Amino acid sequence: MASELDKIAEELQKEAWAGYTEVVIDHAQNPRNVGSIQNADGVAMITGPCGDTMEIWLGVREDVIKEARFWTDGCGTSIASGSMVTELAKGKTIREAMRITQKDVLDALGGLPEESQHCALLAADTLREAVKDYLAYKNESWKRAYQKR
Ligand code: FES
Repeated sequence: MASELDKIAEELQKEAWAGYTEVVIDHAQNPRNVGSIQNADGVAMITGPCGDTMEIWLGVREDVIKEARFWTDGCGTSIASGSMVTELAKGKTIREAMRITQKDVLDALGGLPEESQHCALLAADTLREAVKDYLAYKNESWKRAYQKR
């Protein structure tokens, strides 16, 4: 009986993810880098036009992103995009991370259906804002204590 239910669940999953690449499904179902970083060196939170929010935290040493984490209340595709953008950011210099675009996220995911492509934009934009946040406080990190969050 359980195996019959498992089969039905599997079929429903397949239907729900029809049109998505294996990479997208993997990152949506097993997202990397979920969570936050305490005393992060760069933080950003953006709510996209769809109403979903993404937040990214960066741990930076000598202008290299050592750690990148994310959270979102969005759809499976936004989870996959947050997972991928944080994977792309890790190990990059701040300069390189600043240049990560929606297209880079889409390429790394193997593409997304047109109606889901804004999820990759939300992820890329949030990363860029987190990098900007790092740069804004880089030389005066004590000012973070006065930041409203
Ligand atoms: Fe809003 Fe995916 S539908 S980020």
